Amino acid sequence: RKVGILLSGTGTNMEALVAYTRDPLNRSAAEVVVVVSNIPDAIGVAKAKALGIPVEIVDHKQFIETVDGKSACDRSKYDKQINDTLERHGVEVVCLAGYMRICTSVFVEKWRGRCINTHPAILPAFKGKDAVQMALDAKVRVTGCTVHFVEEEVDAGGIILQQAVNVFPDDTKSTLHERIKAVEHTLFPKAMEAVCRGDAVRVASDPTSGSVGAVCWSDKF
Ligand code: GRF
Repeated sequence: RKVGILLSGTGTNMEALVAYTRDPLNRSAAEVVVVVSNIPDAIGVAKAKALGIPVEIVDHKQFIETVDGKSACDRSKYDKQINDTLERHGVEVVCLAGYMRICTSVFVEKWRGRCINTHPAILPAFKGKDAVQMALDAKVRVTGCTVHFVEEEVDAGGIILQQAVNVFPDDTKSTLHERIKAVEHTLFPKAMEAVCRGDAVRVASDPTSGSVGAVCWSDKF
């Protein structure tokens, strides 16, 4: 399966996904064919180039339009451009790896069941973009990470894999996030592989069953 990765930041999850697919011992069904970023100078962009992966920049700032004196990003137009870019590279499965844009229906409907995201908390706890700080503020002793299918509602799609991470009394946001990321680096590739194999995990598709969005596992996994 041809995989496209979307990122906005440091790209350590992207590196982990690529490393997994390139390790012959994994006999991976996935091949990362493109990295797309909305941030031209993201560290992850330079890392992807160094790994020899084609990189595309779709800068959301180019989609800012002014209507009635108010400026805003035309998110549908931006997502259409993301879709076109991924299609041009023949992408079949999309991994959001520290991608800091909210996806519109234009994107979600096209990739439903074929797009996954990693989140640094045990969903449905601590949704949103500051999940690590939220866990510290809540003084929980355990948090973790979740890989899930992407739906329009942020951090709400069917859960594929989760793993717990302990919170230590002297943790800062950065020490805790590093410990979570280390776990994401094995969990995310595992989930990507399961989705790429198609026979391992999928989103329920029968609209009459009432379980649309639920995740179905096969006993092969
Ligand atoms: C990860 O912790 C991910 O869960 C969150 O952002 C971080 C991205 O890290 N959404 P990196 O860019 O992969 O290093």
